[in-house]
Amino acid sequence: MDLIPLHPSLGARVENFDCGRDPGALAEQLKTELPRWQVLLFRDQNLSDGAFVDFCRTFGTLELLPEPEKRHPEHPEIFNLSNVKPDGSLPHRDEPQAVFLRGTSRWHTDSSFREIPCLATVLYAITVPPVDGDTEFANMIAAHDALSPDDRAELERHRAVHSYAYSRSTNPGRLDPVDPEELAKVPDVTHPILRALPDGRRSVYLGTHASHIDGLPVEEGRARIRALEERLTAVDNIYRHAWRAGDVLIWDNRSTMHRLTGYAVDKHERVMRRCTVVGTDKVFPAGG
Ligand code: OGA
Ligand code: MN
Repeated sequence: MDLIPLHPSLGARVENFDCGRDPGALAEQLKTELPRWQVLLFRDQNLSDGAFVDFCRTFGTLELLPEPEKRHPEHPEIFNLSNVKPDGSLPHRDEPQAVFLRGTSRWHTDSSFREIPCLATVLYAITVPPVDGDTEFANMIAAHDALSPDDRAELERHRAVHSYAYSRSTNPGRLDPVDPEELAKVPDVTHPILRALPDGRRSVYLGTHASHIDGLPVEEGRARIRALEERLTAVDNIYRHAWRAGDVLIWDNRSTMHRLTGYAVDKHERVMRRCTVVGTDKVFPAGG
């Protein structure tokens, strides 16, 4: 398997690879390369929806996301991440669908509000805007390693409260209300701020779902989290991906944060198929 680095800090492009045909014998190697590189890109893919799901299964069991209306009718594991409305038109900037997409423009790691957050997310680009709509990935292992010993010792003592209700409430704009029963299924959880990864490396685990620090006054913890995120994403540990139709890209949510950079949601179509690989473990603390 030929791997070409995408950026000095993280990410690799897998060359000469057909996601619809090649995984079989190479499945184990792909599973090893993902945590190593944190982001893997496969260009020029041409996959049926079923073949895309099969490829994603190489990395583990797939999640069914909570909003049934965004699921693919035949492959419920596929979430339709798109700004195109069912009638083919594009939303106004302030419509809930556009606001939801804008919410992903804040640094986050997917489903950190779960006790066992997802392991990885895969996007398959079907239609991309002619300009903008890139996605940035921050290497949170490098962010950890750049912390001073004092910061590490201090952060090792803390857990952050991750809350779906909090991140929704701070989304920039009005969203459709969530069914209280659905909300009750995702109670707040806490995770260590510094996490131990299976290979022994460590990462900083925060993002928009991180509301505050357990045991500290809410506003103080929140301010510290937001300041830390800002500091840790202002360094040279970010790969910015400019999408091309046919790109399949997978990222490891345990060791990266990501965000969508803006695009004109009311002007240009952006259609992605998304699958989410479930996590296998709770978040282990780095200090323990
Ligand atoms: C996601 C996400 C960003 C993007 O699907 O979890 O954050 O660029 N997407 O679409
Ligand atoms: Mn995301």
